[in-house]
Amino acid sequence: MSATTERIFSGIQPTGRKHLGNYIGAIRQYVAGQETAAAPGDAIFCIVDLHATTVDYDPAKLRERVHDTVAILLAAGLDPERCVLFRQGDVREHAELSWLLSGVTAWGDLNRMHQWKVKREQIEAGTGGFVSAGLFSYPVLMAADVLAYRANVVPVGDDQRQHIELMREVARRFNERFGPPDVLVVPEGRIPEVGARIMDLQDPFSKMSTTSGGDAGRVYVLDEPDAIRKKFRSAVTDSGREVRRGSGKEGIANLIDVLAVVGGRTPESIEAEFEGAGYGDFKMAVGDAVAEYLAPVRERYAGLREDEAELERALAAGAGAAREICAPVLADVREAMGVAEPR
Ligand code: TYM
Repeated sequence: MSATTERIFSGIQPTGRKHLGNYIGAIRQYVAGQETAAAPGDAIFCIVDLHATTVDYDPAKLRERVHDTVAILLAAGLDPERCVLFRQGDVREHAELSWLLSGVTAWGDLNRMHQWKVKREQIEAGTGGFVSAGLFSYPVLMAADVLAYRANVVPVGDDQRQHIELMREVARRFNERFGPPDVLVVPEGRIPEVGARIMDLQDPFSKMSTTSGGDAGRVYVLDEPDAIRKKFRSAVTDSGREVRRGSGKEGIANLIDVLAVVGGRTPESIEAEFEGAGYGDFKMAVGDAVAEYLAPVRERYAGLREDEAELERALAAGAGAAREICAPVLADVREAMGVAEPR
């Protein structure tokens, strides 16, 4: 990577089924990043199975879910010849760097993370159930994912903003403590202007999420076109009649953003087109557009998912390419920290 090139890195969890929020906020940006990468090693995407072990999960299903997720990414347009696509657990450097970076991560910073705060409140209220230490240190592993590749751009949705801030702080603190020279690159988040926070169709005040809300509020990438249309037809809006964004119009604003992204247009042009139209027609238009947008992905997915040997081959090649980039960074980190090279 030369000083002027961009190296992008992003990670995605192999949990649950991927939804329209993941697709619009992140996956479509991965594909765009691959298109502009100068070399395959400048667009790196990781399926983060190690992160998925921080909550209760079924080990037998984890491998399946990794395959589901790779097949979705390939169906969306990632091409293992043009990017590095791999499984986090295949590359030991991630876990190792996570430990090394935990020495320059402030406990107070982790304790302030929104997602952790929610858990902490549940623990304090006695309603948290079992909460793993991994959930607390989750953002350090995320920092390791990105910093191990000296990536400078991290395409993500809005919900990852605080995690990006933390990895920047960790990189800065590492360089300050163990440089000069600077060993790590301080990355930047790339959060789309429109579509960074797709909301639940049944509850426009909550983001579309794998872990909260119900199926009716969530459009899956692999949903059949009719199911997609139905979910949009029943989307919760407001009692008004104007197709425009504004306070009290969160549901409609969400649909405007969705249509803007899938149609490659601006939200303003959608508002202009639907001026005077009823909510029913508008919702139908959004449902049709999303069904059409996701159909080719669903169709390609079926063939890709079936060939598990091929998926594993792609992941193995990706892991090899990933290791080639991150092993020298780990050697620099160990050297700077005075930690011995493994014998
Ligand atoms: P994950 O798997 O929850 O989500 C994957 C990506 O989807 C985005 N996203 C959304 N975007 C718009 N609207 C939504 N409703 C929505 N829901 C999810 C997320 O912002 C994310 O970009 N911790 C990360 C995975 C990770 C990672 C990394 C990301 C691990 N290591 C290193 C970047 C860099 C996560 O759980 O994403």
